[in-house]
Amino acid sequence: MIRTHTCGELRPEHVGQTVTLAGWVDSYRDHGRGLFVDLRDRYGKTQIVFAPDAGEELLQQARTLRAEFVVAVTGSVALRPAGTANLKLPTGEVELRARSLRLLNPSLTPPLQPGAKEVPGEDLRLKYRYLDLRRPEMQRTLMLRHRIIKTMRDYFDEHGFIEIETPMLGRSTPEGARDYLVPSRIHPGKFYALPQSPQLYKQILMVAGYDRYVQVARCFRDEDLRADRQPEFTQLDLEMSFVEADDVMNMIDGLMARLSQAILNRPLQLPLPRMTYDEAMERFGHDAPDLRFGLELVDITDLAAASELRVFREAAAAGQRVRGLNAPQAAASYSRKGLDELAETARSFGAKGLVWFRVEAGPTLASPSAKNLGPGIAARLIERMQAQPGDLLLFVADTFEVTCKALHGLRKLLGETLKLYEPGHLHCSWVVEFPMFARDEETGGWTAMHHPFTSPRPQDLELLASDPGRCRAQAYDLVINGYEAGGGTIRIHDSSIQQQVFGLLGIDAQQARQRFGFLLDALQYGAPPHGGIALGIDRVVMLFAGLDNIRDCIAFPKTQRATDLMTEAPGEVEPRQLQELHVRVVT
Ligand code: AMO
Repeated sequence: MIRTHTCGELRPEHVGQTVTLAGWVDSYRDHGRGLFVDLRDRYGKTQIVFAPDAGEELLQQARTLRAEFVVAVTGSVALRPAGTANLKLPTGEVELRARSLRLLNPSLTPPLQPGAKEVPGEDLRLKYRYLDLRRPEMQRTLMLRHRIIKTMRDYFDEHGFIEIETPMLGRSTPEGARDYLVPSRIHPGKFYALPQSPQLYKQILMVAGYDRYVQVARCFRDEDLRADRQPEFTQLDLEMSFVEADDVMNMIDGLMARLSQAILNRPLQLPLPRMTYDEAMERFGHDAPDLRFGLELVDITDLAAASELRVFREAAAAGQRVRGLNAPQAAASYSRKGLDELAETARSFGAKGLVWFRVEAGPTLASPSAKNLGPGIAARLIERMQAQPGDLLLFVADTFEVTCKALHGLRKLLGETLKLYEPGHLHCSWVVEFPMFARDEETGGWTAMHHPFTSPRPQDLELLASDPGRCRAQAYDLVINGYEAGGGTIRIHDSSIQQQVFGLLGIDAQQARQRFGFLLDALQYGAPPHGGIALGIDRVVMLFAGLDNIRDCIAFPKTQRATDLMTEAPGEVEPRQLQELHVRVVT
């Protein structure tokens, strides 16, 4: 071993020992007491002193060091002189007095300084990812990711799950995104699809009797990217036989408690709260509500109908909804300009406008709309909204969907600006009983809200034929701080119900046979009742690390435009390769 210790290891108890450290030159300063170098590795930083009494030759050699050179230094561990300890650094009470130095490798001048306080631009970070990954923040996150995945694997191993790998080259799995396709050289004109998830394979594994399956699985989805979406991401994927929805949720409850304890050293109260989809939409306007703060939506359609304010009255008369929220003690935080900006936010989510009131002493309502409300309405609004002087009331009158979107957008924004939650706090909960189907806006037909293998609730089976829009699924999403961290369902294990659901989704028998014939066949050879879930590991890591985008939790992520700036993927290929693959490029 070139080193005896890491750069994060030395403490006062090592004083007097001769040690060798190896690492990267984080910074260097030349002054009276000699040359000071901070040496860095992924364990930390240690101060090295090249003192004048160590000899001119060593000092000369040390003066040639520059940022990011890789060196090994041997010397003796000493306490830092009185008053110079750095208590912010775990190694900050000691320093290494150098006696010899080996340059292991020099470095070009780095385009970004891993030790610098300010975070460089993201394009630069992604292009020189090896330098970016030297930044202590990135190293901390990737180490955290490792610990989270290790904790997950240990937990499932203890609960009798076995990890089974499923293929990358397979048939299309319908998770709702576009597939990444791989042309076959051997079969001209045929393509493999990279998995959007291991969904079909894990169901087949249940039929095969592997009643508790888990996998840290790579998934690929060609979809529009966002801060919490990558084209290639990782799921903690699992499936269980002979279970109901509660059993799967309880298993994940236990996992979340284990993670909270192991990673944040905080107990988590179980069971995690559960709320139906309908309740989530009614109270928060979203199926992944951020429950770290209140700001619940309140329906005032009945008061709007009785009021004289035109936007309110007309919406109520047209069968639409009027809903709002009370931002407590926020009236003073929003000037007219601030309120215009809130209205703009509401409009960006499709609302036609925003009706606001400041609650003043009395209490009374103050705003340009207040005088048009009509007799008695203000007092009833104040009561309904439980408003106090100083509060700010915001209302949207529109279809249920638009009120959901706009008020959810406002709620998110207000939560953030008014700092309604502690930064490090994680709030985990379940949203359950999602609708089976949603309307496809383009075709007007039904699409699967989760995926086509999701089982309806037993009590809703009849609705499949009579009123599919009201049919609820045995589906559950794990929500953390307003993010969908995971989602799963109990599956259909009866091939006739599966056919009926395919029918509603417009997948006729022939198409179903062609796309999922193997699953339909398998379901007829003794399929046990089964269900499962997948957690987005990148999102879980992001939340536990307190970050706001998953690119910072992935060693080599893609940009928002799905490119890898370091390797420059996707790239061109040789015409010969295309020919072998029977592919012609048309641009
Ligand atoms: P679903 O499509 O809900 O379910 O995905 C499960 C979880 O994976 C994460 N996720 C993503 N993370 C990063 N980038 C993406 N593009 C991305 N897409 C999804 C989310 C999500 O909650 N087969 C089913 C699971 C099941 O039914 O068991 C599935 O894949 O955190």
